Amino acid sequence: MAGITNRAFRKICTNWGAQFSFTEMISAESVIRNFKVVEKMLPKDESNVAIQLFGNEPKTLAQAAKLVESYAAWLDINAACPVKKVIKKNSGGALLNDLERLGKIIESVKSSVQKPVTVKIRIGFEKNILDQIIHRCIKAGADGIEVHGRTVVQQYSGKALWDLKLSQYGIPIAVSGDIFEIEDFHKALEISGAHSALIARGALRKPWIFAQITQKRTPRIEEIKEIFTKHLKMQIEDEGENSIYKMRQYIAGYTHGMRGAREFRERFMKLNKLEDMEKFTEEFFNSFLMNECNDKVVEWIEESLDRRCCT
Ligand SMILES: Cc1cc2nc3c(=O)[nH]c(=O)nc-3n(C[C@H](O)[C@H](O)[C@H](O)COP(=O)(O)O)c2cc1C
Repeated sequence: MAGITNRAFRKICTNWGAQFSFTEMISAESVIRNFKVVEKMLPKDESNVAIQLFGNEPKTLAQAAKLVESYAAWLDINAACPVKKVIKKNSGGALLNDLERLGKIIESVKSSVQKPVTVKIRIGFEKNILDQIIHRCIKAGADGIEVHGRTVVQQYSGKALWDLKLSQYGIPIAVSGDIFEIEDFHKALEISGAHSALIARGALRKPWIFAQITQKRTPRIEEIKEIFTKHLKMQIEDEGENSIYKMRQYIAGYTHGMRGAREFRERFMKLNKLEDMEKFTEEFFNSFLMNECNDKVVEWIEESLDRRCCT
């Protein structure tokens, strides 16, 4: 996810059991023109991370793929993004309107790298032409595909389509869209016939969703507190003290459903220093743990009073 899945967040998700992840989408032109800036987005001390590139020119994408190949587990081409700025340049989801070009891009990238090449698509630009898109990707040599079950025009409206009959194509295809809970994960896999499933917004809401799926466990508040503190430190270690504001976008997930979370988030959004964020987070989680503990004692007293009244 652009702006979200930086190194620190990818590592958090991996620690929670995500089996693979993707970089934010990276412009192929920037890779060629501005490698120093782009390098920060590339995987470092990580495994199983695909690098996602976007662009429109087969040659440019091939050249960029070659430059980043050594950092990647595999290369991924974005033919799904609905953002206007990207569409205007005939990149991302716009490629679904020009399957010939998409095919040429895949062929060109495939011939320039040794590692596998996958393609992220939607079911079509305006209407569902999934079968046609998949056949074009396969013909061009794609090693795998990820499908977000909406059209580009739909953006995020309506429900993602899971009934995609993906097992018929003979290459690994992942399903994406509206997987927020463990049940969604299993249903999406079953209904789509996909080889694997991707979780995007669900991970932002709950990075431990991967542990719930792969280890059947939900972390305790204490553990969530520790992970958030670790996440804060990782963000700063990786991108420097000035990048701390980025942690604001993750706080809603970590405190989802907790009493007093809204007030906490509002105040957290105004903090600019690691020490302040650490201290304030520690206080919030500790007070929550105390309240939880008090609630348990009150519940226990009430239960024992009930028992006494009834006997
Ligand atoms: C903030 C945000 C940024 C995204 N950036 C990317 C991206 O860079 N590349 C990509 O392939 N998909 C991107 N997506 C789309 C997701 O990968 C995913 O296909 C889509 O959100 C549907 O899945 P979900 O319901 O699990 O979120 C992004 C989605 C969001 C919400």
